[in-house]
Amino acid sequence: MIRELLESRAGEDYELYARTINPQFMRVLRTIGFDRVWARAEGQYLYDGDGTRYLDLLGGFGMFNAGRNNPRIRAALVEALELETPGSVALGVSLLPGLLAEELLRRTPPRLARVLFTSSGTEANEAAFKLGRAATGRSRVLSTEHAFHGLTLGSLSAAGDRHFTERFGPLLPGFDQVSFGDLDALEAALRREDVALFIVEPVQGHGVYLPPSGYLTQAQEICRRYGTLFAVDEVQTGFGRTGKMFAFEHWGLEPDLVAVAKSLSGGYVPVGALLMSQRVYDGVFDSLEHSVSHGSTFAPNDLAMAAGLATLREIDDAQLVERAARLGDHLLERTRPLLDRFEVVRDVRGLGLLWAMQFAEPEHGSLAWRVMERVQTGLFAQLVVVPLFTKHRILTQVAGYDLPVLKAIPPLVLTEEDVDDFVTALDDVIKKATRPTRVAGMALRAARGSTAR
Ligand SMILES: Cc1ncc(COP(=O)(O)O)c(C=O)c1O
Repeated sequence: MIRELLESRAGEDYELYARTINPQFMRVLRTIGFDRVWARAEGQYLYDGDGTRYLDLLGGFGMFNAGRNNPRIRAALVEALELETPGSVALGVSLLPGLLAEELLRRTPPRLARVLFTSSGTEANEAAFKLGRAATGRSRVLSTEHAFHGLTLGSLSAAGDRHFTERFGPLLPGFDQVSFGDLDALEAALRREDVALFIVEPVQGHGVYLPPSGYLTQAQEICRRYGTLFAVDEVQTGFGRTGKMFAFEHWGLEPDLVAVAKSLSGGYVPVGALLMSQRVYDGVFDSLEHSVSHGSTFAPNDLAMAAGLATLREIDDAQLVERAARLGDHLLERTRPLLDRFEVVRDVRGLGLLWAMQFAEPEHGSLAWRVMERVQTGLFAQLVVVPLFTKHRILTQVAGYDLPVLKAIPPLVLTEEDVDDFVTALDDVIKKATRPTRVAGMALRAARGSTAR
């Protein structure tokens, strides 16, 4: 049935999407030339209708760590479907959720003792806020400036970034932010001993900002000192992304709460989870009456659980964690020289396969920079992202806050050759992006795109 539908309606993708879902998004894609009709996907590649291959350094915003359409994860899903497993009994349980919880806990520090499944990353964070409040009897939630925890109201309240929150207020009371890396501000905020939890991304995903040395270890210590739960959002950094199974392992942290999602199901089925300490569990689920204090209908569904089990096995068998570490080093090694080569490149940073290049106006001025940044802050990066895609067939994204950032978060099945192709393409597009002749047309298109409402 699906095959027939796809064949009989082939090519209608964008027109139908615009008519039924979101015409503004389609205008954006058209403006920047990203409106390809995709035919198939495999590993780290997407293929358009002509069979042309694109290198996907975006990985569905980081949900394809194990590669797109991974055959072993797919086989586990088919098997689960064929077995017609008796999942989601609601008033009853089945085996698969327990098995996946066991595998997650086996990979995390002993402090984490229980798992609550969700269907997304933001839902896992919402659970952290709710359970953290109940477990501590405190109402305040502290997070870091420029954090990203998801787009539901609780997570938006923790993000605190105007770009995501304006027009959607009022946000939840009791949520405050401190600057990422500022331990004095953290301690000052916790001293009154009324903060339930401090939530932090080990690496801030939106602009790929790495924590200052010692920050996370000391943040955890300060949290313990004032009875605040230390919550780590691993939604983007988890499952091998940074060259460890979980990013918190880089600093030997032992969080009280850990949110995961994205790649846990291999990108096939929505899934997320909140891992919590025994203390948190006991503080919330403290009686028969409170045994179902939180949850959502689809969260522990058998398909998500089967996909999760197969994904964890695949990450181990294919040694994707080690691969991310090795290729991340290679990527940094190959892209750092661009700092010397181009004045407009101000920083190159990353951990494993979470990588970013930050641009800034050259000291001697750049017409390209001034034109693009006048249209909209951060737009210069589009001068890189667009030709990377249209000319070199490499999918990346613009990220960051005050300065434009180019970000890559590819499937961990990437090869050295892919990295080298990316570096060659990057060198070419940055060289051309700073040439004034290229700028006028792009600025015009960007201006039209940015004012599209
Ligand atoms: C660090 C982080 N937390 C939470 C989320 C939200 O996850 P979801 O989109 O599954 O709700 C994201 C999504 O990009 C994320 O990067």
